[in-house]
Amino acid sequence: MAKVMIMDHPLIQHKLTILRDVHTASTQFRALVSEIAMLMCYEATRDLPLEEVETQTPLALAKTKSIAGKKLAFVPILRAGLGMVDGVLALVPSARVGHIGLYRDHETLMPVEYYCKLPADIEEREVIVLDPMLATGGSAIDAITQIKTRNPQKIKFMCIIAAPEGLEALKAAHPDVDVFVGALDDCLNEHGYIVPGLGDAGDRIFGTK
Ligand code: PRP
Ligand code: URA
Repeated sequence: MAKVMIMDHPLIQHKLTILRDVHTASTQFRALVSEIAMLMCYEATRDLPLEEVETQTPLALAKTKSIAGKKLAFVPILRAGLGMVDGVLALVPSARVGHIGLYRDHETLMPVEYYCKLPADIEEREVIVLDPMLATGGSAIDAITQIKTRNPQKIKFMCIIAAPEGLEALKAAHPDVDVFVGALDDCLNEHGYIVPGLGDAGDRIFGTK
């Protein structure tokens, strides 16, 4: 069964408070999404396999550790997932980045796909899917279903805020995927928005409303 980790780090909680604030402007919102993604990535990469290597220091030959194999691929779900890419790449600069374009139909709340470009060697990599919001779970479930057709080594999902409904749906649809959540909120409203949430993540990152 998949692991679900809800972040309790004080820095993440503090930054989330500012992120949620309706008065926080796009410039600061973007910076915070990136910073929170970086802090969450630290936890999401805790179990990466290591191998022993020999390193010549100025003083001696040392037995040290290096991340084994082909490292990571990050896959943001467009648009809002793009806001998390800089932060995770700051920690893992060698990672590849794929993109999946999905938007929620406002009437049905069902995800509509419009783009998918994944790294050619994705089957040799662990994938971390990025989206700030897990609401009904439809977008994350759909994106992960697409990625699974390319047989990566492992898939994890990272979101900044989740609704209980979306988290349950994601666990049921993809029980093999570890999920990292910045905060688990109360519920969805009648329009499928997370309450208390932070509003529309894409609009707040890109200033489109
Ligand atoms: C938001 C968000 C997720 C999705 C979550 O994107 O970034 O992708 O909604 O909702 P769900 O869990 O109910 O599927 P949106 O569809 O608003 O597209 P955008 O990022 O292009 O604004
Ligand atoms: N998408 C968002 O950006 N915010 C929500 O609350 C739900 C879906």
